[in-house]
Amino acid sequence: MRKITLCFLAFILIALPGFADEGMWIPMLLKKYNIEDMQKAGFKLTAEDIYDINQASLKDAVVGLGREGSPFQHFCTGEIVSDEGLMITNHHCAFGMIQAHSSLEHNYLRDGFWANSKKEELTNPGTTASILVRMEDVTEKINAALNSNMSEEERAKKIKEVSRKLEAEAVKGTNLQANIKPYFNGNQYFMSVFKIYRDVRLVGAPNSAIGKFGGDTDNWTWPRHTGDFSVLRIYAGPDNEPAAVSPNNVPYKPAKFFKVSARGVKEGDFTMVFGYPGTTNEYLTSYAIDQIASVEDPHKIKIRTAKLDVINAAMESDELLRIKYAAKAANVANAWKKWQGEIKGLERFSTADNKRILERNFNQWAQANGKTEYIGLVDRYKNLYDARQEYILAAAYATEAGLRGAEVIELARNIKQILEVYDQANDKEIFKQRVKEYIQSFYKDYDVATDERILVEMLKLYNNEDLDNQWIPEVVRLSPKYAKGNAYERYAADLFKKSIFAHEDRLLAFVNNLNDKTIKKIEKDPIYMMMEGIQNLFMEKIRPELGRIEREINSLNRLWMAGLMEMQPDKIFYPDANSTLRIAYGKVAGYKALDAVYYTPYTTLKGIMEKDNPNIYDYDVPQKLRELYKNRDFGPYTQDGEVPVCFIATNHTTGGNSGSPVLDAEGNLIGLNFDRAWEGVMSDMQYSPEICRNIAVDIRYVLFIIDKYAGAKHLIEEMEIIH
Ligand code: ARG
Ligand code: GLU
Repeated sequence: MRKITLCFLAFILIALPGFADEGMWIPMLLKKYNIEDMQKAGFKLTAEDIYDINQASLKDAVVGLGREGSPFQHFCTGEIVSDEGLMITNHHCAFGMIQAHSSLEHNYLRDGFWANSKKEELTNPGTTASILVRMEDVTEKINAALNSNMSEEERAKKIKEVSRKLEAEAVKGTNLQANIKPYFNGNQYFMSVFKIYRDVRLVGAPNSAIGKFGGDTDNWTWPRHTGDFSVLRIYAGPDNEPAAVSPNNVPYKPAKFFKVSARGVKEGDFTMVFGYPGTTNEYLTSYAIDQIASVEDPHKIKIRTAKLDVINAAMESDELLRIKYAAKAANVANAWKKWQGEIKGLERFSTADNKRILERNFNQWAQANGKTEYIGLVDRYKNLYDARQEYILAAAYATEAGLRGAEVIELARNIKQILEVYDQANDKEIFKQRVKEYIQSFYKDYDVATDERILVEMLKLYNNEDLDNQWIPEVVRLSPKYAKGNAYERYAADLFKKSIFAHEDRLLAFVNNLNDKTIKKIEKDPIYMMMEGIQNLFMEKIRPELGRIEREINSLNRLWMAGLMEMQPDKIFYPDANSTLRIAYGKVAGYKALDAVYYTPYTTLKGIMEKDNPNIYDYDVPQKLRELYKNRDFGPYTQDGEVPVCFIATNHTTGGNSGSPVLDAEGNLIGLNFDRAWEGVMSDMQYSPEICRNIAVDIRYVLFIIDKYAGAKHLIEEMEIIH
């Protein structure tokens, strides 16, 4: 009896319309689904102010940052804050750019970088800045080409074919680019049309002691004191249209830029985040949650822990190694830490159990209403996830410990790929030159001794008892010749001694002497052979079967999503994040993190001084900041006498939302999104309004650092600041 009541209650709860704070909404549908709710929550503008295709709207000031070759996979978001294309994003979003421009002589990571004039701004070829022109629902056009007799593969092929055709038609005769993506697990399709700028320059970045204050120690946690911002500028051709990087380009004149509000917000105030969230999985079943939390993530965490132990020790030991490995370490550590928080959150909030209740209700509903297409659906997941388990584990080792384990393996893989087109190269000398440039750029951020130690750890982990022997490539197993003590160390040392990939000079000499005959020699290289062994096993035995299982799961997911929407016709669903432009809205709010622990929503400069510790790299406050604090030289950037640094809100965000504008009720810029708070990072799979918080750097701290710390007053003057 009690059980039934519980289920019934849960059903009611789950069936209620979405919580105001949860959701990543589609801008073109705000008018239909959200604007009233937003206005009730305090928003003062209209849906058209946010998204309008006939006149300038806020969307024109939001930028998806991507890379040439994959411009639609936005790695971060930026926002335009002046009529000369000035753009702000996170420090960690521009970290790769800052790192690439850094050397021991010009250590911009350590010392910061500020261009005194536009001439000094640094180009970053390969970085793209996309501005959404319009969106269109193309579901009907896609569905018209599909039928229920198609296999999943035929279906996927057809969707691709029709999408490419629609995309081409949409931008014919223009310099725009269109991209169609599935929404709601393939139940709907929307096309986004972009104008993509290709000349993005670095204007300024604080030193890491500010921009990455707290480092990986504080990453994913609140309270936070990171000045996670950097300043970029979009350049266009003289006609204000996209152009390749060129000295003839001029600052881009945007249709719209954000006004910056130095007025601040207080607890309870409306906030919204406008940007490009990458991936969420809110509609997974209990089977998926269980597998992620108990198998997939724990193994990936274990592998990365070993890798990070080696990298961190190297970075601690030497300043040059710190520069070389800064970006790599941050990357590896970021997901590693998030997975740990995610597992905790999923357990604490009984996500899998909640899903099981939902699944049971779904079954009952399908039975009671004779929905034959949904009856038994949930059970079909079980077999598929059972089958997936072994493959996902094998894949985790092949990628995390193998192909992306020691970097030398990745190098061999990339060189292999490059050499595959050697035959087709018209000018062999130019070809060789390119390869050598790639090798040199690889070696710029590479340390052989560190990588050898990584390989040792990876080999040890790869040979573990959770992994059936068939998933451990021959080349990864230890030959009897190394049977005695320090076996893996000796094996790795041998490989590194013999392989040309571990010796820049030998690799360059190989490329110099490249011809039809010598090219074959590489196949005998021991690191090359190791790479081939791992890759072949992965491509031939793991990926095809894993792909097949996941295609079946995806087709169930499509049905599951459709069923959920049918079962709860009054609920307004939001689609999972897919790297397209979204709005998340909510309010500034503290939270109760743990028993007896309540966090308020603001941090201040005072807190930075409390953390100050010259002996801890992540908390070593720059002297100049100490002095500004001591002299209380804060300019107009204060609240209650202190400089605000970061704040948290209930906006539903994920990776890719980094750098997104956090806006107030009038659409003014009040902060930059850059993280989430530890206790709620499971929000990619289950959002809980009481605990899930996004973290933003307060725009007043950004202004304070630019103005008082960096002395870049010209940038302050370029923005429109409301006091
Ligand atoms: N956790 C944030 C995000 O997911 C910040 C990552 C960069 N910072 C770092 N310390 N690794 O991207
Ligand atoms: N730091 C993340 C990013 O780069 C945002 C944090 C999150 O995952 O919510 O997008």
